[in-house]
Amino acid sequence: MAIHLNGKKVAEELYSKLLLEVSLLPIVPKLAVILVGSDPASQTYVKTKEKKCLSLGLQSETFTYSQDVTESELIEKIKKLNEDKSVHGVLIQLPLPAHINKNRLMEYLSPLKDVDGLTPDNAGRLAQGIPRLIPCTPHGIMALLSFYGIPIEGKRVVVLGRSDIVGKPMAQLMINANATVTVCHSKTKEIKEICQTADILVAAIGKPKWLGPDFVKSSCSVIDVGIHREGETFCGDVDFEEVEKKCHAITPVPGGVGPMTIALLMKNLVLAASLQSKPGRRP
Ligand SMILES: NC(=O)c1ccc[n+]([C@@H]2O[C@H](COP(=O)([O-])OP(=O)(O)OC[C@H]3O[C@@H](n4cnc5c(N)ncnc54)[C@H](OP(=O)(O)O)[C@@H]3O)[C@@H](O)[C@H]2O)c1
Repeated sequence: MAIHLNGKKVAEELYSKLLLEVSLLPIVPKLAVILVGSDPASQTYVKTKEKKCLSLGLQSETFTYSQDVTESELIEKIKKLNEDKSVHGVLIQLPLPAHINKNRLMEYLSPLKDVDGLTPDNAGRLAQGIPRLIPCTPHGIMALLSFYGIPIEGKRVVVLGRSDIVGKPMAQLMINANATVTVCHSKTKEIKEICQTADILVAAIGKPKWLGPDFVKSSCSVIDVGIHREGETFCGDVDFEEVEKKCHAITPVPGGVGPMTIALLMKNLVLAASLQSKPGRRP
């Protein structure tokens, strides 16, 4: 049976270190969340983030907009939050309605307040190997692998998905850690054969239980980013019950990548606050 990579436990360890860091800061970091529409999953994620801020003694405020908000209204709000010295991190909850261009919004967000690591500045820094604020999910995955001592250097990593928030930064982090990386997406041919070569396989495609045991070799560590409601509980992009019988290590859903994402968001907020409290730093 595979080793279960327990994100809940690793996140708790991260929080104890973070509490100490927060107590040493001369300010109380504050997160501003922009939430558009009434998607229940987005509302739940935002509530989880607010609660976690509270439990760590951090502040948070959510600004809610209706589904038909315009791009310019959101840009005006972002500009105000950039100027607001009491706010240290700004998160725009995704997904946004189709008429809003996420990348256009990111061009207006201050890179020092970009706790999701999605501005062109932070994405470019990551690509150049000089990261500052890194997208939380892939950063959390790196922390999880490191905690369990899973080697990355020289290994073959396959990333399923190429989103700006998971797939692409995951691939960049793995390249920076000296892995040999293949990124697959909906147009990739022979995807199963590619997956079978992976020492580490990251599934972030948004399809419930899509990845079965025939995709993995026995020495593979499987990271499941997907999260889908399944009755009273959740499942991931990986068929956990079947794949865990075959692979070396695997993240459960829930309790794997999800808690690490929240933990790294809190870490990014504290980092953003400390970056902003340092005088003379370039934006
Ligand atoms: N646990 C967490 O903390 C956390 C955080 C973020 C996201 N998530 C979850 O992770 C999943 C992925 O999120 P995301 O934001 O990256 O999703 P996304 O923006 O929808 O991207 C999905 C990616 O998967 C690719 N894809 C879709 N079907 C595929 C297939 N059959 N074979 C190969 N590639 C395929 C798409 O390819 P194309 O580019 O060609 O369309 C796209 O690149 C979702 O379930 C999301 O809810 C969880």
